Amino acid sequence: MSWKEVDQGWGDQAKVWASVMEPRWWPEFDALLRATQVGDGSDYLDIACGSGLMLNMASRRGALAHGLDASDRLLSLAKRRTPEADIRHGDMNALPWDDQSFDVATSCRGIWGPNQQAVHEAARVLRPGGCLGLSFFGAGRDGSQIGKAFKAIRRISDHEIDWSQQLGEIGLEGRAEEMCRIAGLEPAERQRVQFDLEGADLDHEVRAWMAAGPAWMAIQERGADEVERSIRQELTDLEEPGIGVRTQVLIEFVVATKPS
Ligand SMILES: C[S@@+](CC[C@H](N)C(=O)[O-])C[C@H]1O[C@@H](n2cnc3c(N)ncnc32)[C@H](O)[C@@H]1O
Repeated sequence: MSWKEVDQGWGDQAKVWASVMEPRWWPEFDALLRATQVGDGSDYLDIACGSGLMLNMASRRGALAHGLDASDRLLSLAKRRTPEADIRHGDMNALPWDDQSFDVATSCRGIWGPNQQAVHEAARVLRPGGCLGLSFFGAGRDGSQIGKAFKAIRRISDHEIDWSQQLGEIGLEGRAEEMCRIAGLEPAERQRVQFDLEGADLDHEVRAWMAAGPAWMAIQERGADEVERSIRQELTDLEEPGIGVRTQVLIEFVVATKPS
């Protein structure tokens, strides 16, 4: 799929993604912003920024926020949230900024296993001494609670079985670090952040997952009713009376520095 087609899936439910799914990942955003020391006056870029909550959090810390995503419908929400940021529609494999423009670049589940070129691009736009923070699912996610949501989508979608395996390879031990080294960056030790995605009830949870890109691909193949039924069935035992649906997530991340 070309980057120009990404909006068909990611943009389809943009307002649901921005209000129901994206806010639940704030502990990941917070961990990455702290680990990369984004703060007052940092020239900061978020790659595959989606609807831009991470950008907004960076801007509130005083950073000069820049963002890029391939979905213009997600970007409309990002621009509304953080009007002072420089937010551009484009491809992470060809960033529309000059060499050495940024102190920090991040990507939260935006750069995946097949995206080596995007890491080269991130390295190109960093200043010497600047760093890239890359977060992704750890390789063990298949047996985890978050893995259940992906399993619900994958088991009914041929496209997702193959594609999600390639994407997930960034989580293999040493793989993200290797991608950074190939791009001339020096990765520090991998870090982890664990948290629960919180859903008020099963309806809330299903709505959140139906807004994600992978669900859209499955919906094209099998129809919305079947995808919804599959997600509901797989997540039903995560619902607790009085608590709602809580799905444990383990995110791993690497911070890699561009040599001075
Ligand atoms: C899992 S979402 C993560 C979004 C955001 N980082 C977050 O944490 O909420 C993946 C994002 O990658 C974007 N994307 C996919 N391919 C892209 C490409 N080639 N260039 C730029 N963005 C892309 C999608 O539009 C989507 O917003």
